[in-house]
Amino acid sequence: MNVSAPQPTERATFPGLDLRGSAALVTGGGSGIGLETALTLADLGADVAVFDIDGPAAERAAERIRAIGRNALALVGDAASEADVVDAFERAGAALGDLDIAVACAGILGDYQPIAGTSVEHFDRVMAVNVRGSFLVIREAVPQMRRRGRGAIIVLSSLDGLQAEPGMASYCTSKGALLNLARAAALDLARERITVNAVCPSVTFTPLLEGRLATLPDGDAVLAAFAAKHPLGRVLQPTDIAATIAFLVSPLATGITGAAVPVDAGKGAAWDDYKTPPWLSA
Ligand SMILES: NC(=O)c1ccc[n+]([C@@H]2O[C@H](COP(=O)([O-])OP(=O)(O)OC[C@H]3O[C@@H](n4cnc5c(N)ncnc54)[C@H](O)[C@@H]3O)[C@@H](O)[C@H]2O)c1
Repeated sequence: MNVSAPQPTERATFPGLDLRGSAALVTGGGSGIGLETALTLADLGADVAVFDIDGPAAERAAERIRAIGRNALALVGDAASEADVVDAFERAGAALGDLDIAVACAGILGDYQPIAGTSVEHFDRVMAVNVRGSFLVIREAVPQMRRRGRGAIIVLSSLDGLQAEPGMASYCTSKGALLNLARAAALDLARERITVNAVCPSVTFTPLLEGRLATLPDGDAVLAAFAAKHPLGRVLQPTDIAATIAFLVSPLATGITGAAVPVDAGKGAAWDDYKTPPWLSA
């Protein structure tokens, strides 16, 4: 067998994160992790299309991207709708040029429902937004990325994709499915310089979480308890997730594909709720 050795290359100065010349589409870009991702990509030089079911939120995000000095486009639609996602990619490509970055952030928790009480309608809607929506992002991104000769796609899974929590069967199922969607797509696209990765945040302080906490009489105490469960002693901020996504879609990460990347403040490293054992605190 004739295996050619890799050719040594001269080491260049570490290039840093630079997305000038890139064009991105972020679904769910009107709020939370998606909004912070859209702004971070713009900070790094990318033009960004923001797709969201909440039109005014998409418009506000696009305004903030323009204020950074980048081109932006606000697109309104439902991530679960094939027609809406197809149309969004067509319009984004026409306005910004062929896209080389796509981030599927649009996602819903659904209601807390124990499995025995989960309706088919609830299960189907959560799966449609979270899984079908991400599948459509990948499928529609590919033709534009092929024309560019490179691409990077991110789907938002969760720590709930790697493990599960009670009362959230629909959500946990959808987030688990996204891990294998990313792997399968990564393999299909591996020889075309298009990467596909899943990012798995733990509890992140976004309007989605704030809304859930606001329904509880003791929301502040619940948030503090969440923070204490994480070895870093805090919940995540949208900036933690956006920075990881920015790295994964950058030319610095072209060797990573099909991965499930946790951003979990150390939660996945602990076998139980994190606390200092008595023999260390004594
Ligand atoms: N916040 C967390 O703790 C956390 C943890 C792990 C994973 N995630 C995932 O990160 C992603 C973003 O979550 P977030 O906390 O930023 O939520 P968020 O509610 O703050 O933002 C979600 C955005 O998606 C939009 N959206 C919802 N349904 C849509 C649809 N059908 N079509 C188009 N847009 C739609 C919303 O209007 C909103 O702007 C989700 O996929 C979520 O499951 C969040």
